[in-house]
Amino acid sequence: MEVKMKFVSVHGIDLAYTRRGTGTPLVLIHGFPLDHTSWDKVASLLESEFEIITPDLRGFGQSTTLETPYTVSDMADDLAGLLDSLEIEKTVIAGHSMGGYVALAFAKKYPQRVSGLGLISSQAVADAPDRKEGRYKTAAEVAEKGTVVVADAMTPKLSADVKVQSIVRAVIEKQGKSGVIGALQAMAEREDSMSFLSLFTFPFLLVHGDSDLLIPIERAREIKAALPSAKLVELPGAGHTPMMEFPEATADGLRFFAG
Ligand code: MLT
Repeated sequence: MEVKMKFVSVHGIDLAYTRRGTGTPLVLIHGFPLDHTSWDKVASLLESEFEIITPDLRGFGQSTTLETPYTVSDMADDLAGLLDSLEIEKTVIAGHSMGGYVALAFAKKYPQRVSGLGLISSQAVADAPDRKEGRYKTAAEVAEKGTVVVADAMTPKLSADVKVQSIVRAVIEKQGKSGVIGALQAMAEREDSMSFLSLFTFPFLLVHGDSDLLIPIERAREIKAALPSAKLVELPGAGHTPMMEFPEATADGLRFFAG
């Protein structure tokens, strides 16, 4: 069943989100260049156990964006504003890939508001110089040719499952150029978070597919090695979109946070 989008105005952005279910608050943040719909299946599976909020990050889905550059930390501030408007003081925050970068930025800035942190197919390291350069190159191509550039490059790498590929391609093609360019720049400039991990005292979950072509599972294993108290769920056969490829297993992983 489709859940109605709601909107809140934060930092000059109209931020779209859905809210459903009852229980421990759980914010599920989408990756790049997707939107909140990537969490639909998992949210349906968990709505009797959690109060689930799925935002569209600025520039994606139905959220507006700014034409001036912004950071991953600004995206985290948007979520703090959303939580304020919903009167949610503390929450589990879990992000897919780029959504994980935003979740890490949120946990760094608002640790007192975090009751648990989940990284799904994400990483804590910053971009290597060549990756950073590649993002600016892609941003220039998107400015010239549109988001189809990213749809062509990323779709086969997001998942080997052709059904998932056709869904994500359609979602990517719908995204606006400004949001995609803004996020590429924000990701390129994000800080390394590995050195912050030991400061995190809340439950920490990692869910990662062993067939992820975009962020290798080694990145999750490195986090687990740096933070042995973290729980790592390795999903055999999953690519970069486990919440779409293996929603039940991903939802099961997130039950780690059930109160
Ligand atoms: C994502 O899925 O959000 C992106 O692949 C993350 C990235 O490009 O680093």
